[in-house]
Amino acid sequence: MAVYDTDLAGIDALRAHAVYSQIALHAEYGGVVPELASRDHVRKLLPLIRQTLDEAGMAINDIDGVAYTAGPGLVGALLVGAGVARSLAWALEIPAVGVHHMEGHLLAPLMEDDPPQAPFVALLVSGGHTQLVAVDAIGQYRLLGETLDDAAGEAFDKTAKMMGLPYPGGPQLAALAEQGRPGAYRFSRPMTDRPGLDFSFSGLKTQVLLAWRDSDQSDQTRADIARGFEDAVVETLAIKCGRALEAAGTNVIVVAGGVGANKRLRARLQEMAARLGGRACFPRPALCTDNGAMIAFAGALRLQAGQRSPPTVDVTPRWDMATLPAVADLPH
Ligand code: KG4
Ligand code: ZN
Repeated sequence: MAVYDTDLAGIDALRAHAVYSQIALHAEYGGVVPELASRDHVRKLLPLIRQTLDEAGMAINDIDGVAYTAGPGLVGALLVGAGVARSLAWALEIPAVGVHHMEGHLLAPLMEDDPPQAPFVALLVSGGHTQLVAVDAIGQYRLLGETLDDAAGEAFDKTAKMMGLPYPGGPQLAALAEQGRPGAYRFSRPMTDRPGLDFSFSGLKTQVLLAWRDSDQSDQTRADIARGFEDAVVETLAIKCGRALEAAGTNVIVVAGGVGANKRLRARLQEMAARLGGRACFPRPALCTDNGAMIAFAGALRLQAGQRSPPTVDVTPRWDMATLPAVADLPH
């Protein structure tokens, strides 16, 4: 949940920002249980709105527009958010717009100082997505490549679970990898030996499973395997990012989504972009993982461009980002 002030610029425009994490809830079950997730949304949404407004020092009537996640994602959770957002807009007689979750991630780096200008390439790496997207303009996206099976974050989470780490394993596996010896385990860089910008991470998970099963399963081995796995994922993502930049004819890469918080990925892509005379842009880690600020920001851009969603509680659980209207093309 966030309050974004379009009269201000950059991160200062974020008047308030609160995240309620369902990690503790999901950890109990080792993953997301959709029905529990939506019921928890029902419980937490209104208190979180009050808390965020308090933090911004604002009353509900001070809000000029509402942005909510309309998809893609779990239909139950999306409907809770859309229902509350539409009701708020209706009661306050203000416009509302449904935001594409991945566009929220993609635009998050633009909230930071000195934001990149389109055209650039975006690497979207979350628990549900791994995509390379050519951003010709804000709102105008071309899919260059995506995963054919597991998402990068999902691969982190499943691999971590296999080695006995609690949910969500990604950040824990990355922390463990810091104690691992580079090169002690070497896993393949899937699909880098052939042209194309698609990914596949499910085979890597199997390689790790076999290595772990046949090992002494000591703490050092677990860390060594974690390091080998992280290096394989980071290197694979970096190789494909390099190719995507070449294909799109730009040297600016923007990284977003939960895995964008990974330190080694950040360092590796920064080094690559510097070598190309360009730059790699990341949001701060708190804006990489799911957050309300990115939805408020993307929604504010679209509302300012005159876009509104119809006053019905509609969500789009499966939604292709390439079908979004370009922000510049929207009626003013
Ligand atoms: O974008 P996000 O918060 O939620 C989705 O929309 O999926 O991404 C969550 C994913 C999880 O799979 C989590 O394990 C991963 O991002 N993640 C990380 C790190 N922090 C979060 N993976 C690797 N290294 C990290 N530091
Ligand atoms: Zn996300």
